[in-house]
Amino acid sequence: MHEKIKRYKKEIDGFTTEIAEEVDQFRIRFLSKKGLIPSLFADFKSVPPEQRREMGRILNELKGSAQKKLNELRESIESNKVSEKKAIDLTLPTDFSSLGTRHPISIVGNEIIEIFSRIGFTVSEGPEIEDDWHNFSALNFPEEHPARDMQDTFFIEKDPDVSLRTHTSSVQIRVMEETKPPMRALFPGRVFRNEAISARAHCIFHQVEGLYVDKNVSFADLKQTLLYFAKEMFGEETGIRLRPSYFPFTEPSAEMDISCNICGGKGCNICKYTGWVEILGCGMVDPNVFENCDIDSKKQTGFAFGMGVERIAMLKYQVNDIRLYFENDVRFLKQFRSAL
Ligand code: PHE
Repeated sequence: MHEKIKRYKKEIDGFTTEIAEEVDQFRIRFLSKKGLIPSLFADFKSVPPEQRREMGRILNELKGSAQKKLNELRESIESNKVSEKKAIDLTLPTDFSSLGTRHPISIVGNEIIEIFSRIGFTVSEGPEIEDDWHNFSALNFPEEHPARDMQDTFFIEKDPDVSLRTHTSSVQIRVMEETKPPMRALFPGRVFRNEAISARAHCIFHQVEGLYVDKNVSFADLKQTLLYFAKEMFGEETGIRLRPSYFPFTEPSAEMDISCNICGGKGCNICKYTGWVEILGCGMVDPNVFENCDIDSKKQTGFAFGMGVERIAMLKYQVNDIRLYFENDVRFLKQFRSAL
C-alpha cells in the first residue's frame, strides 16, 4: 500500500495538462467513486490497527493533493478560456487606426485642376530650380529691368543666374519650347520668393498657371474661361471683375477679382469693405514670349493666368493666416476632408 501511495503521489504531483478532457480523466482516475484513492480507502480496513493512524494521515494527504491538483487544473483552464476569448475573438470590432487626411493645399490644388480638366486642360510640371531664361528673360523681363524686382528672388548661383522659380510662368516657356500649338495646359507647383513671412505672405507657396494657345484665341475666351472657373470654385452666384494690370509676359494684362464669397459683395473685413477680392493675374500672351519659344506670333494667340493656391484656400475655407498651411499641426490639417 505504501508503494502505491508513493507512486500515485508522484503521478499526481507531476501531472499537468491544459485540456479539459484530460482534467476530467484525472478526476475519474483518482477521485471518482471507483477511482484509485477511494479504493485505497477501501483497502484501509486491512491495515493493521497500529499502522492505521499513520496510514490514515498519508491517505488523507494524498486525497488532499489530488483534490488540490484538480482545482488548480480547472482554474487554469477557466482563465485560459477567458484570455483566449480576449485574444482571438475575431468578431469583435477593431479599433480603427486613424487615416491621414489630404493637405488642404492639395485638396484645393486638385480641385482647380479638376475644374479646368473638364474643359480640356492637361497638366505639365517643370523644375523648381530654374535658370534666368525660363524664369525671366524668355518671359520678356528685360535685362536689368525693375520688373525683375516685382518678385524678390532666392538666388542659388550668380552668372549665370540659377534661382528658385518665383512663379510657375517658367513652365509656360518650357512647354512652349517643346510643344507646338494648339495647347491647353495647367502648370501646378511650388514657387519661392524672398519675402518676410506674415499672415498674408510666405516665402514658399503654390501656384497653378494656365495657358491656352491656338489660332484666334481672344480676351473674351480668357474672360469666359475665368468666369466658368470662379463659378465652379466659389459658387454659381459668384461674379468676376477684371482690372487692367501689368505683367511683362502678357499684353494686355489684368488682375481678376471675384465678388466676395464671404459677405456676398456687401462688404466685410476680408474684402476690406469693397465687396471684391483679388484671386489671380492673367492676360494675352505677349508676342515677344511666342517669338522666344519659336512660335509664330502672327498666326497664334493665347492667354495665360496664374493663381496662388493658398489664396484660393484662404478664401474657400475662410482661414486668414497663410502660415497655418505650413505648420503641419494635425489639429488644423485633419479638419479638411475631400474626395479629391
Ligand atoms: N506669374 C504671375 C505671378 O506670379 C501670374 C500670372 C500668370 C500673370 C500668367 C499673368 C499670366 O504673379
